[in-house]
Amino acid sequence: MQPITLALAKGRPAKSTIELLEKTGEHFIDLHEDSRKLVFYNKDKSIKVIFVKALDVPTYVEKGAADIGIVGKDNIMESQADVYELLDLKIGKCKFSVAGKPDHPIKNNQKLTIATKYPNVAKKHFLKKGQPIETVKLNGSVELAPIIGLSDYIVDIVETGSTLKENGLVVLEDIEKISTRLIVNKASFATKAAEVQQFINQLKLAME
Ligand code: PRP
Repeated sequence: MQPITLALAKGRPAKSTIELLEKTGEHFIDLHEDSRKLVFYNKDKSIKVIFVKALDVPTYVEKGAADIGIVGKDNIMESQADVYELLDLKIGKCKFSVAGKPDHPIKNNQKLTIATKYPNVAKKHFLKKGQPIETVKLNGSVELAPIIGLSDYIVDIVETGSTLKENGLVVLEDIEKISTRLIVNKASFATKAAEVQQFINQLKLAME
């Protein structure tokens, strides 16, 4: 068997992903969500785990620096990476929504300003509707934008809805359901078919 490299996303769903990995029976020494270390191995070194920024996971997988990635659908959509998405791990469940002020329904046929951490997702969504938009790329605290007049609306992740609520905003449109997915490099899917399939089967069993 050839060794495989698995890219894991740092951040919110890291803890649940690591718990699921441990349930496969593979133990990765020192691997925990707050670790500053970036490379980990299982006991027989058949699996190398690299710990990277969530939005970079699809890039590592697309370029073949990792054979497999475990990352949120939000980052897969935003990266537009050319990879196979093979398994829904059903953790980190949330959704992409358009949100704004409650008294400010979405106006059609008027150029809208959308603040977001996910400009590609926003552009694709509004393009489908034939709605012209301009995006303002932010890196966090996106909910502030419509409040202070930086944008008309936001496109963001909604999990519990409490960030929107606490800032007086509401969901105006849902875009897509999000959860953690397993993605595979297209070449690895052919050249390491047995290893990739074995890892997926282990994960599926751990999910039961
Ligand atoms: C995310 C997202 C929302 C919030 C949604 O932000 O961008 O702001 O979580 O979660 P909720 O519906 O449960 O309130 P994150 O916590 O990653 O922080 P950020 O503002 O720094 O991006």
